[in-house]
Amino acid sequence: MKVLAFAASNSQNSINKMLATYAANLIKGAEIEVLDINDYEMPIFSDVREAQLGQPQQAQDFFKKLGEADAIIISYAEHNGSYTAAFKNLFDWTSRIDMKLYQNKPILMLATSPGPGGAASVLASAAGSAHYFAADVKATLSIPSFFDNFDVKKQVLTNRELNEKLQAAVALLSL
Ligand SMILES: Cc1cc2nc3c(=O)[nH]c(=O)nc-3n(C[C@H](O)[C@H](O)[C@H](O)COP(=O)(O)O)c2cc1C
Repeated sequence: MKVLAFAASNSQNSINKMLATYAANLIKGAEIEVLDINDYEMPIFSDVREAQLGQPQQAQDFFKKLGEADAIIISYAEHNGSYTAAFKNLFDWTSRIDMKLYQNKPILMLATSPGPGGAASVLASAAGSAHYFAADVKATLSIPSFFDNFDVKKQVLTNRELNEKLQAAVALLSL
């Protein structure tokens, strides 16, 4: 089973990347690839740029990566209640190749932030619109107060209750 995991963040120290990586590693025997969306950076989408550039290679490559996966784990960072600009730009360009960009893949949607809200707003937004983009969302989970619940040194989710919820959510990907 090929699992593609990434954070919807371009932070070099992304806590969502830590969470997505941790979650992917809970799937025993899976072949895991962790993407960095910095590798798919493009100019900010506009109709004029699209007319000039067509479908940029980065968007094509990202679309292909999604298509090659058996399951996808995305952990959303929240900026002002919504997607990060970096992810939204990648999402917009890729949706112009095919609006059904998730290609009916089973998806686990996660989100975390240092605050008690746990990036729940962006997670609700992503999950709520997922069907338009052919995402087969198996589970969603927000991890609040990241630094209270995740040991960054050990790269482990230390909150037992949240860990059990994450294990259960991850298990749904391979059903
Ligand atoms: C411009 C900006 C807006 C933010 N807005 C929110 C927000 O609405 N909700 C929230 O929980 N955290 C917010 N944060 C804090 C982020 O959750 C925090 O930076 C987190 O580390 C982002 O995840 P990442 O490390 O995976 O990029 C914001 C941070 C920035 C820089």
